[in-house]
Amino acid sequence: MRPTISESAPKKPRDWREPTGDGPQLLVESEVVRAAVRKARQAGKSVGLVPTMGALHEGHLSLLETAKTECDLSIVSIFVNPTQFSPQEDFRNYPRDLTRDMELLGRLGCDIVFAPTNDAMYAPNHATSVDVGPIGQMLEGEFRPTHFRGVATIVLKLFQLVSADRAYFGRKDYQQTIVVRQMVADLDVPIDVRVCPTVREADGLAMSSRNVYLSADDRRRAVVLSKSLLLAEQLANSGERDVATIRRLMQQEIDNVGGINVQYIAFVADATLTPVARIDGPTTVALAAIVGNTRLIDNMLIGVT
Ligand code: PAF
Repeated sequence: MRPTISESAPKKPRDWREPTGDGPQLLVESEVVRAAVRKARQAGKSVGLVPTMGALHEGHLSLLETAKTECDLSIVSIFVNPTQFSPQEDFRNYPRDLTRDMELLGRLGCDIVFAPTNDAMYAPNHATSVDVGPIGQMLEGEFRPTHFRGVATIVLKLFQLVSADRAYFGRKDYQQTIVVRQMVADLDVPIDVRVCPTVREADGLAMSSRNVYLSADDRRRAVVLSKSLLLAEQLANSGERDVATIRRLMQQEIDNVGGINVQYIAFVADATLTPVARIDGPTTVALAAIVGNTRLIDNMLIGVT
């Protein structure tokens, strides 16, 4: 299905047309997406937003599928947000393929793709950012200190531009979901943040746009990350309560594969991301590791009886 691209017709709303079922509309201008959402809402339609950075995979598509079941109008945003990358990270090389993304979204019946330009999202004099406090500094924040400031800022901007009823995020980026919920609560953003399950490859590897960076060998080894999370779950299910023991056995399993640098294995019980020493209830195990040259994250909820 071919994407429809129209950026420059003279009058507002410039590139808005009623969804035809012939593939998503590609909107690049903020005022046009605002007008489209306004029009939908005036017609009594509910709006669902799936924020993404493109390079879509089954995980993103499952978010869209959920949005489509819950909302009348589905919007996927595609914007590789520079402010959430640190200078040494992969912003320049981050995978980008809008044509492929549009085709995938077309197959699923997405109504609108909002793909703003960098200049539109960040004016040269852009100065304001959203700091979510301590929850942005722990776990991922220890290794990527400016990451969540960038995420919270762009997500708030997207929420402002696309005033959706619901926004959809994957649980794979667990800390991101906590950060977004905190930001929405603190700043009274009228949107319902929905968190959908992690989608995995058949062997358990969590789907991620960065998986394309893995060599065949790294790809084989990366599976141990989800296996180590399953091990944590099994240990908790069989009565092990001590986090230090579970962490040691997970680390051992990962080390046995070799060539993987674990940055953290954290056990947290709630939205404050406070570390726990014992599994006394639902606990998220989150980890980050560098496999070859690729940094991967994953997590699992354990201790649910
Ligand atoms: O999860 C992502 O892809 C990004 O962090 C997000 C939420 C689209 C913000 O840029």
